[in-house]
Parts: sequence; C-alpha cells; structure tokens
Amino acid sequence: MAFEWTTDLATGNSDIDRQHQEMFKRINNLLDACTQQKGKEEIGKFLGFLEDYVVEHFNAEEKVMTERHYPGLAAHKQEHEHFKQRIATIKKEFVEFGATIHVVLLAIRTAGDWLISHIRKTDKAMGAFLKGA
Ligand SMILES: [Fe+2]
Ligand SMILES: [Fe+2]
Repeated sequence: MAFEWTTDLATGNSDIDRQHQEMFKRINNLLDACTQQKGKEEIGKFLGFLEDYVVEHFNAEEKVMTERHYPGLAAHKQEHEHFKQRIATIKKEFVEFGATIHVVLLAIRTAGDWLISHIRKTDKAMGAFLKGA
C-alpha cells in the first residue's frame, strides 16, 4: 500500500504541488521502512520532517493566501492548526513511550489521510482561487 499523488490532487501552483509530492514521498518512505522492519528507526526522523517541512509548507500557503486576500484564509489556516496539533499529540506519545508500532502506524495514517483529504478539498479550492484571481 502506498499513498499516491495523482493529477487530480494538483492545485495548479507548481511550488505547492511539488511540496505535496515531497510529503507523499516521505510518507511512502516510512511505509517502505516498515515493510523492512525499520519503521521504528525512521519514525523520529519522520516526525521531525512533519514538524519542519509541513509547517514551512503551511506558512508558504498562508503567505500566498494572505497576499492574494483569499477569503477562505481563516478556515484554511484553522485546518493547518488542527493538523499541527495532531502531530504534536503524536510527537508527545513518541517522546513518552518511544518508537512503538502504534506511533508509527498512527503517524502514517494521520499524515496520509489528512494530507489527501486536505489537498483534495481545501488546497484545491485555494488553487482554483489563485488561478482565477
Ligand atoms: Fe498543502
Ligand atoms: Fe493547506
């Protein structure tokens, strides 16, 4: 099983799309590591990636939306904040209990499912606005 970036997830903004593709790649790398019984070794790195890269990515999107006076900015930002909180919760569990299989699976499922549904709905709506405006 892998999370796949398909063209129906394209926002039309090449920078944003490239960043989304990178996130899919990282999630799939972690999945691959799991099949090689190395998920527990990689989870710390993956959580670090989520904290850094994803937050940078959110900031980039929010910057463009602000510059273009996107009316959906506040709601979009709220979804980003919600995801950051979920990552913080997973990180907390990781710090407290270590690299358990539960943490690994939770991180993969949370990141993969959230990413796909957020891009499909929220990022694409943003992309459509940016293209049209
Ligand atoms: Fe995004
Ligand atoms: Fe977004």
